[in-house]
Amino acid sequence: MKILIIGGGNMGMTYAQSFLRSHIAEKENMMILEKSPEKADELSKKDIGAVYGKPEDCVPTADLIILAVKPQDSAALFGVIRHLVHPQQVFLSIMAGVKMESIAKGLGVEKVIRAMPNLPAQIGMGMTAFSSSDEVTRIELVTVQNLLNTTGKTLYVANESLIDAATAISGSGPAYVWFFMRSLMEAAREMGFSMSEAELLVGQTFLGATELYNATNVSCDTWIERVCSRGGTTEAALNTYLNNAVRADIIEGAMAALNRAEELGRN
Ligand SMILES: NC(=O)c1ccc[n+]([C@@H]2O[C@H](COP(=O)([O-])OP(=O)(O)OC[C@H]3O[C@@H](n4cnc5c(N)ncnc54)[C@H](OP(=O)(O)O)[C@@H]3O)[C@@H](O)[C@H]2O)c1
Repeated sequence: MKILIIGGGNMGMTYAQSFLRSHIAEKENMMILEKSPEKADELSKKDIGAVYGKPEDCVPTADLIILAVKPQDSAALFGVIRHLVHPQQVFLSIMAGVKMESIAKGLGVEKVIRAMPNLPAQIGMGMTAFSSSDEVTRIELVTVQNLLNTTGKTLYVANESLIDAATAISGSGPAYVWFFMRSLMEAAREMGFSMSEAELLVGQTFLGATELYNATNVSCDTWIERVCSRGGTTEAALNTYLNNAVRADIIEGAMAALNRAEELGRN
């Protein structure tokens, strides 16, 4: 299977490197189309497959085409490649907010898969939600899921609207976690730790807590109970968070992200 990645930026490169590292694709079958000549030149020096600057040299021969350009560049891209694509090709889009219907109409194709990855995909720890049009066959879907799995974990959602919801939870989610981490680092600094000590304390605490959660079948509430003793330090902190409605704020923030994702999709 010939794979073409359009857009050799952060995500395009993450995908190319993940596919090759996991040996799910061979270099001989990987193509990258990059508009910027400087970037294309840089990419050619990396050992990641053939790099192209002209769509006509690579689009017609691809079996799977990964659309990894910015959403605002999608209309221009569709205009450039529309006459080069054919109905047997499968299109995997990771462009935030661009609906499958827009891709199908913009390119005049039917086999469309839309995915929402997140940044930890860069280290194989990503979370990707994906959905597909009815015309994508089971085998094509499994093939694409196997490719996506090289960047972390995946969740198939039959209803495309849940891609916007996944954008608000796992797509933007790493930033929420880093926001909480940074706040805790600020607290550590106020208590007298140096910045590097605060980073170590907080980074390892987040890593340990999430690894422990993922390694067991225990709910967050149960783990919280196990850390909390009545009248103890953890309870003092959690009571303050609850009194300040931090939980409600987190939910409200995620809802704001969902509203924005839907709004961007409409535009
Ligand atoms: N980064 C994330 O965490 C993340 C998460 C989920 C989804 N996404 C989605 O992933 C997509 C890519 O994001 P990114 O961060 O990788 O963007 P990026 O670094 O800007 O990469 C996009 C690349 O595509 C190139 N390009 C634009 N139009 C092109 C065309 N017609 N033909 C060939 N190449 C073209 C751009 O070149 P120029 O720079 O010259 O324009 C740029 O090198 C976006 O749609 C974004 O919504 C990103």
